[in-house]
Amino acid sequence: MRAVTWQGRRKVSVDTVPDPAIKEPTDAIIRVTSTNICGSDLHLYEVLGAFMTQGDILGHEAMGVVEEVGREVDGLQVGDRVVIPFNISCGHCFMCDHGLQSQCETTQNRDQGTGAALFGYSKLYGEVAGGQAEYLRVPQAQYTHIKVPQDGPDERYVYLSDVLPTAWQAVEYADVPDGGTLVVLGLGPIGSMACRIAAHRKSCRVIGVDLVDERLTRAREYCTDVIDLRRDDAQDMVLGHTDGRGADSVIDAVGMEAHGSPIAGTMQTAAGFLPSPVGRVVMKQAGVDRLAALNSAIALVRRGGTISLSGVYGGAADPINMMTLFDKQIQLRMGQANVKKWVPDIMPLLTAEDPLGVEQFATHRLPLSAAPEAYETFQKKEDGMVKVVLSP
Ligand SMILES: NC(=O)c1ccc[n+]([C@@H]2O[C@H](COP(=O)([O-])OP(=O)(O)OC[C@H]3O[C@@H](n4cnc5c(N)ncnc54)[C@H](O)[C@@H]3O)[C@@H](O)[C@H]2O)c1
Ligand SMILES: [Zn+2]
Ligand SMILES: [Zn+2]
Repeated sequence: MRAVTWQGRRKVSVDTVPDPAIKEPTDAIIRVTSTNICGSDLHLYEVLGAFMTQGDILGHEAMGVVEEVGREVDGLQVGDRVVIPFNISCGHCFMCDHGLQSQCETTQNRDQGTGAALFGYSKLYGEVAGGQAEYLRVPQAQYTHIKVPQDGPDERYVYLSDVLPTAWQAVEYADVPDGGTLVVLGLGPIGSMACRIAAHRKSCRVIGVDLVDERLTRAREYCTDVIDLRRDDAQDMVLGHTDGRGADSVIDAVGMEAHGSPIAGTMQTAAGFLPSPVGRVVMKQAGVDRLAALNSAIALVRRGGTISLSGVYGGAADPINMMTLFDKQIQLRMGQANVKKWVPDIMPLLTAEDPLGVEQFATHRLPLSAAPEAYETFQKKEDGMVKVVLSP
């Protein structure tokens, strides 16, 4: 089959690789019909490269049709149309029972000290082959799937793999009160979907923040106001909307690729370049996060407010501003999305009326073979690219 593989820092290619096969009785194989590129893939493309092996198949936002099921996979049949959650979870452990599927105890990576295995996400998360490919092996398939109706375009459902539940969890964790103010930092797919969900579900002011024209333009439709970091003073504007107090809640949908801390940026780049074993140690222990977005969140939230982090952070040693967090009495909630937990809430919104605008959400629909150029364009934020759906 054809698959998108990681080849080195800022280099992916489309190769012919062996078709996946059932290895465990709990596996299924799906034929992929749509598979997205995510902001999280950019971490692998760049700063988490030290955790990748040449030839790893990328991708964690796939949907398709079931081709084959292992003998212990009940409730799933050949021909079913399914979206595959980015986290692999069993559905019967303590964590899954508590709605914490991203911490599944059956697929946790204890050797790495990390949570549930993820598709296409490096040594840190189980080195499971990803879904930017013609076929995908789905472990724990009895639970790691979302059945969707046979009708309607792929775009109606494909974001159930990641964008929708991640943005939904971001809004839930932000806990914005009625009539309150929510600031969303970063208007990529996650941040812009969080704005849409908050505008749809909550009676609150939504203020989106970014520094790329088309991302600000797209968000304007769903936001009370947008802040362009290139020219606006975010602090002044947020205080202006909130009687000088700051936002009740802030979502950080940026993570460690933030623009704004050039020195840490150089260190991250250096870690991406180091030979892998050394690079991994540098990344995990020396701490090379760029905390610009988190620091903005701490500054913009009001005293007693809540920060909800969906942006991914990777290092362990960067100082976070504990004094201000403590003094302002800030609540901080974060983590990988527990995809399956939110699906029942989201599914009723995936209708022909399309209140969240998912069917027009992708800016680019490209063949799988275009992945190398698409990664580069997406990383450089060129050509108005915000979300890419690939067709194998
Ligand atoms: N928690 C989860 O389960 C989960 C799931 C998916 C993605 N993510 C993470 O969420 C983050 C966003 O994902 P995405 O796909 O939307 O990525 P993206 O890279 O397309 O979006 C990030 C946006 O932030 C903007 N930005 C950069 N620096 C900023 C700053 N200092 N202040 C405000 N905005 C800034 C960028 O211009 C961009 O529009 C990534 O870190 C990704 O890894 C987390
Ligand atoms: Zn993703
Ligand atoms: Zn589990």
